[in-house]
Amino acid sequence: MRAVGYAPIESGRTPDTIVLEGSQPATALDLVPRAGVCRRGMELTGKVALVTGAARGIGRAIAEALARAGCDVVVSDVARSGDGVTPYRLASGDDLAATAAAVEAAGRRSAALTADVTLAADVERLLGEVASRFGGLDVLIANAGIIAAAPVAAMDEAIWDRIFAVNVKGVFLCARAAIPLLIEHGGGRIVNIASVAGKTGRGGLSAYCASKSAVISFTQSLAEELGPMNVAVNALCPGFIQTAMWTEVLNPVLAGMTGVPVERVFEDFVQRSTYLKRGQTPEEIADAAVYLCRAENVTGITLTVAGGGEVH
Ligand code: NAI
Repeated sequence: MRAVGYAPIESGRTPDTIVLEGSQPATALDLVPRAGVCRRGMELTGKVALVTGAARGIGRAIAEALARAGCDVVVSDVARSGDGVTPYRLASGDDLAATAAAVEAAGRRSAALTADVTLAADVERLLGEVASRFGGLDVLIANAGIIAAAPVAAMDEAIWDRIFAVNVKGVFLCARAAIPLLIEHGGGRIVNIASVAGKTGRGGLSAYCASKSAVISFTQSLAEELGPMNVAVNALCPGFIQTAMWTEVLNPVLAGMTGVPVERVFEDFVQRSTYLKRGQTPEEIADAAVYLCRAENVTGITLTVAGGGEVH
């Protein structure tokens, strides 16, 4: 069956209505299983993507998935193991090089560029290098993020500031530097990695939750600003993924609170907290990021991938 034209828009019929040969008019949803009939969204082959916080975890999985989807992927990270404030080990230069190698193994170009997303000069230099070495930018994935746990009454001011610097200011600085390049290419995509923690505040995680709420509202503002320039901006809210954030921070805290042994506490938590009774993988989050990069006419949303652990 093939689409033969668009039906005139009449009352009770959506603008998406498509007439199929030998059939009644169908909605766009009816077309989903029929490969080749409906548009597949933005073609990613040959596009240039930048992923921050890409040395490991979710960022690495997104970089690899974008490469498999056809993008050349510049991977960036602070890549110096520690920032003096974050209370666990950050990624190293070797980790970042391994991500770039994985992109190249998928047959696409890559470059591993060190940048601290909290520093405007670093971010401007990073985007300058993307432009000069890759000819521009089509996709920005603002993924770099940190976490720390403490009750508000005992919250260290330097940790609060660092969480907001990385998780919020970093997203702003990357967007600001990327916008001229995206517009120069006639449009593109920004995906900001927020969190289910940005939708529901949790005791002991106030700074992290508040920072991720800020990412969600920043995303909505930016989506309205950039819509006329054909740049779609969306937030992705991962749920529960056993990266350093869990193994180094959340597992020990939860174990202390619940008495469940640290090696079982993640599984115990996701069994209790998700409809699907499991945590998510970095690859599942990466699939959603690729969807947001391909999607046409989707902007300003927060897409949650949490197995039912957050449904609002
Ligand atoms: P991760 O700790 O493995 O990855 C974060 C990356 O960001 C690291 O490679 C780190 O070196 C980098 N980074 C930290 N500070 C930086 C800076 N100033 N400049 C540049 N890079 C910096 O953690 P994960 O889980 O992969 O986190 C990725 C994103 O996903 C974060 O934004 C996080 O908040 C978010 N997220 C994670 C969830 C989880 O369950 N793991 C759930 C919801 C959201």
